[in-house]
Amino acid sequence: MMELEVVVLAAGDGTRMRSARSKVLHEVAGRPLLAWVVEAARGLEPAAIHVVYRDEAVRRGLESALEAGAPPLRWVVQPRPLGTGHAVAQALPRVSDGRAVVVVYGDVPGVDSGSLRRIRPNADPARLVLLTARTEYSDGYGRVRRGPDGRVLGIVEERDASPAERAIREVNTGILAAPVGPLRRWVAALSAGNAQGEYYLTDVVAMAVEEGFVVEPVELSNPDDWMGVNDRVELEAAESRMRRRRAEELMRGGVTVRDASRIDVRGAVEAAQDVTIDVGVVLEGRVRIGRGAVIGPYSVLRDAEIGEGATVRSHCVVEGARVAAGATVGPFARLRPGTDVGEDARIGNFVEVKASRIGAGSKASHLSYVGDAEVGRDVNIGAGTITCNYDGQAKHRTTIEDGASIGSGVELVAPITVGKGATVGAGSTLTRDAPAGQLTVARSRQTSIARWKRRFRGGG
Ligand code: UD1
Ligand code: CA
Repeated sequence: MMELEVVVLAAGDGTRMRSARSKVLHEVAGRPLLAWVVEAARGLEPAAIHVVYRDEAVRRGLESALEAGAPPLRWVVQPRPLGTGHAVAQALPRVSDGRAVVVVYGDVPGVDSGSLRRIRPNADPARLVLLTARTEYSDGYGRVRRGPDGRVLGIVEERDASPAERAIREVNTGILAAPVGPLRRWVAALSAGNAQGEYYLTDVVAMAVEEGFVVEPVELSNPDDWMGVNDRVELEAAESRMRRRRAEELMRGGVTVRDASRIDVRGAVEAAQDVTIDVGVVLEGRVRIGRGAVIGPYSVLRDAEIGEGATVRSHCVVEGARVAAGATVGPFARLRPGTDVGEDARIGNFVEVKASRIGAGSKASHLSYVGDAEVGRDVNIGAGTITCNYDGQAKHRTTIEDGASIGSGVELVAPITVGKGATVGAGSTLTRDAPAGQLTVARSRQTSIARWKRRFRGGG
């Protein structure tokens, strides 16, 4: 078997996107189109991956979207977008002699290593392998021309096709493999005498046939694996195919997904068995969800860890946070980076927690802000409590020790410590520490004035 090098094309204009941004940087499931393709290419374990590009933003965008992996990418500039054949020609001088080249277009996010691998066993010195597909949705694709004996004769681009050729339902997916020597020769002989005035890579197929090469079509059956993205309608279609695919991965792993068309997995998600994910949930970055946890409707989890049996109720935003086993969050809670909610703790509605540790069994059930705080075990934080962590210049920490009880509407002006088992009266504004075990109240005494008369009428 010949060693492979992959050439990924990402230098086109992408005019149909109508965008200032390069097409291949538009995202599907939270990653640039090109990142999906390069990752699939890595799965082939090629000796090299060449990315043909023109826009520096493509290079930067891909480098930041991809994790380091093998082999490192080799960047090749195509100075002007003169066509897919011209793009491949820029990379071929860099390919080692005697190897097979696999060409993949950067706008096919659904391609996976599985379908690419179907090329591998066929890569041989006297063979051109072409991945094709039969489809009712052939618009825009090159059509595969076959002779009366069924052998492939070539590919005709839609804009150059006769009405009879347009009726062909077998299309070119754009993925092909050929030995580098002949491919160099064919690409050098391409001409741009066609409807688009471009050097079409697809014309090499007819050249190979002419030379008596075996052209081996390999049919891909699942449209998810090969459909390209040329405009925003196709971008949305790709997103929805990817959504389905990723939801299915979760379901096959033992997760109940209430509606596979209403969940968005945009990152690397690990979910244990018997997790339930309700509608409208968005999972981004690195998310881990423990066994039996429930994620309620319309919650967004980004770089989050949810423990076994924990519950995130509806409409929560959990980012850079950990929720331990058995804890409950929400509805309508916001956990910001650096938050660690302990076992069986409860963070209720309209509570915001930032860079704080909430001890096991503690509760902040309503309308509070807990920031830069260390909260012990079994603490109760009443409704409307605020840790005043910012003095206009610096952030300060609040410590609330085990078993403390904070009444409603309390302001804790940090730095401050509420001691173990302390009770803080409702409505207090504390600027000094509250001693352990005692009741601390810091508010003006209530007075009532007898025989007081209102000076104006009304006001009920
Ligand atoms: C191409 C194929 C078509 C196939 C379809 C599959 C050709 C001539 N046509 O059409 O047969 O059915 O893909 O999706 O190859 N690119 C460059 N440099 C260029 C031009 C394009 O790098 O000068 C890159 C683009 O960034 C893109 C890819 O090549 O990633 C394909 O180009 P595109 O213009 O999308 O080709 P299609 O019209 O889709
Ligand atoms: Ca395309």
